[in-house]
Amino acid sequence: MSRKIIAGNWKMNLNLKEGAELINAAEKYLAAKPVHHIDVIVAPPAYQLVQSSQLSKNERLSVAAQNMAAEEKGAFTGEISASMVKDAGAELVIIGHSERREIFGESDELLERKLKKALEHGLYPIFCVGESLSQRKNNEHFQHIENQLKAGLQSFSAEEVPQIIIAYEPIWAIGTGETASQEQAQEMHSFIRKYLGQQFSAAVADEVSILYGGSVKPDNARGLFGQPDIDGGLIGGASLDAESFTSLIQIGEEILR
Ligand code: PGA
Repeated sequence: MSRKIIAGNWKMNLNLKEGAELINAAEKYLAAKPVHHIDVIVAPPAYQLVQSSQLSKNERLSVAAQNMAAEEKGAFTGEISASMVKDAGAELVIIGHSERREIFGESDELLERKLKKALEHGLYPIFCVGESLSQRKNNEHFQHIENQLKAGLQSFSAEEVPQIIIAYEPIWAIGTGETASQEQAQEMHSFIRKYLGQQFSAAVADEVSILYGGSVKPDNARGLFGQPDIDGGLIGGASLDAESFTSLIQIGEEILR
């Protein structure tokens, strides 16, 4: 059975004070309304990982880095390593967000190395896949997602894969206000689960959490989270505001099963 997850990706937003306020609001919410069915994750900018980890005391609240290097250590100016992410108190790391792939040119091959490095250090990766609008229009979206999954996961064993969380984030729905319909999202999630079943095992397919990301908001979350193969959300814009983030936690707790 897969874990159900509400994850907030802050991207390059919120300063130390704003980050602390948001985590304190989540802590307060969770203390008043304990959640049993879901795990909550926040992914702050790297320089806030220590503060965020120290403030996240609730056992249901964990911290993720937004990125990390594939190398162990050394002369990689501007990078942060897996052991540094761990040392900062984070438990997870987002790997292969479409902004890393598109803006920073991260290749499938690099992302596979990052996934390996994360697992080596006991970090849980949130591995993002997603197609562009033109790929969807040309009906290439399933093939593209399969290619990304294959490239990222091909060298992992059936024992390792359940440690990886997958996030399906269609690029055309990220930050655009345009979300995939619940049918479109479910269709792709079911495709991803089938792929995992074929490549690894039915047990792996059942265990891996598959999150949807792309303009998730309190007003569309119920429909998305109600889909059988959607195990939660990776949320950008709507995770920056305490009220909408906590209402997404509430919706997750109610709807995700
Ligand atoms: P969004 O971002 O919710 O602002 O569309 C999601 C993401 O990029 O993870």
